[in-house]
Amino acid sequence: MDWFQTVVLSTVLSASWSAEDLTFPPGFMFGAATAAYQVEGAWNVSDKGESAWDRYTHEHPEKIKDHSNGDIACDSYHLWRRDIEMAVELGLHFYRFSISWPRLLPSGYPNYISEDGKNYYSNLIDGLLEKGIEPFVTMYHWDLPQSLQDLGGWTNPLVADWFYDYARVVFTLYGDRVKWWLTINEPLVMCDFVYNNGILAPPIMSPELGAYLCSKNVLVAHAKAWRLYDEEFRPKYNGKVSVANHHVWFDPLTPDDAELAELAREDCVGKYTHPIFSTTGGWPPSIEKVMEEVSLKRGYKSSSLPAFTPEEIALVRGTYDFYAMNHYTSRLIRKAKEGETFTAWPLGDAVDLGGIVQRRADWPLSTSFWFYVYPEGIRRQLVWLRKQYGNLEFVITENGLSTYAGLDDQDRIDYYKNYLRQILLAIKEDGVNVTGYTAWTLMDNFEWMDGYATKLGLYEVDYLDPQRKRTPRASARFYADLIKKHALDSVTVAPPNVTIV
Ligand code: NOJ
Repeated sequence: MDWFQTVVLSTVLSASWSAEDLTFPPGFMFGAATAAYQVEGAWNVSDKGESAWDRYTHEHPEKIKDHSNGDIACDSYHLWRRDIEMAVELGLHFYRFSISWPRLLPSGYPNYISEDGKNYYSNLIDGLLEKGIEPFVTMYHWDLPQSLQDLGGWTNPLVADWFYDYARVVFTLYGDRVKWWLTINEPLVMCDFVYNNGILAPPIMSPELGAYLCSKNVLVAHAKAWRLYDEEFRPKYNGKVSVANHHVWFDPLTPDDAELAELAREDCVGKYTHPIFSTTGGWPPSIEKVMEEVSLKRGYKSSSLPAFTPEEIALVRGTYDFYAMNHYTSRLIRKAKEGETFTAWPLGDAVDLGGIVQRRADWPLSTSFWFYVYPEGIRRQLVWLRKQYGNLEFVITENGLSTYAGLDDQDRIDYYKNYLRQILLAIKEDGVNVTGYTAWTLMDNFEWMDGYATKLGLYEVDYLDPQRKRTPRASARFYADLIKKHALDSVTVAPPNVTIV
């Protein structure tokens, strides 16, 4: 985009920027999210089984910034009524939470269902419905039963059947009341980030093989669960099922890097979405090609990215009822120079692509090392997805800012406003069918490697208080107000920045 186009486009957009444009479409849903290991605590209460995160944090406290763990966390296992109250205070349309597989199935298998685990989620679901709040349930948010981790976890192809069996229990118990389902949260993080870095649970480094075995198994597991719902539960309950992917938007550093940026998008997002949402199915062809070249160069006989059989391609393709998008941050990418071997999150294998990942100088850093703020990225990501897969129903299933402690979180409010404004632009200017938005997160919680040091909550949690007192931040009042008005506040929203090449 040249200088003249930039000025014209900015003028057009600011000119059309009226209060009217800041209203969300009728029926647009607002929610907030958490995940079991991050909030529940009660890690060994009743007959709950050990999860891979229990094992990891207990054996390697030094890996977590503040040496903490999820043993008690926000104690939502006992304080779920207060969580519902907060959802009511905010006026949420839905609350996204996850089910802990080892809490429901202590052995990992459906040979035995925990009565207490079953009742816990049942009560939470009923409590939400009583208040008119939709339960939006993630079936798996990283807390694999340790018994299954011991058998290889997500690198063992049998995991797809283990997940299928678990899914049957979940749909059977809660399918009558839950209409919104996510099978698996963020395959990119579970596979690429885990096996490329050896951090997060399980702490296993296997960037050349493990990451790719996991990528394929996760897709097959999701597909089997979706088909199970489609065939046996949809006729009775008519809910919607999808998978929540993590999206990092990539812009090229220079126009010369445009092709590389597209490859990075396919690697980061397409690897997990092309098999499901494209009309052809299977891996993105560009990634398949690069992976084969790289694997042969590394001395393997064939690609480390396991091939799909034609039956598997058909099994996975089309297994969605909506598109679930977690988004926080963006990156620039440029071609690597001779001899450069730097790799950077989220592309542990950025070298595979011959790319160097970096930040644009004016993108502020949050309190998470991986997280730079670039509101336009969410709009660009949505437009890209629509171009790739058509105008599906898009639900933003996570978005929010990590900060330091404090109740007066203007930075979080600004983040929400700026990102939501870009979502409105995607809806109104680009015609993308976004129907819902989820703030991450309802309350401060165990932020994985950052422990409790990093805060993302609309509510602050006092971890020194045995009652884990929850207090609304300024952002909670902002969010409640936004939901009530069904619109952003026009005065404090800055004009959009459209100057990116
Ligand atoms: C995505 C993950 O799903 C969630 O568990 C995590 O807390 C947020 N990102 C913030 O890092």
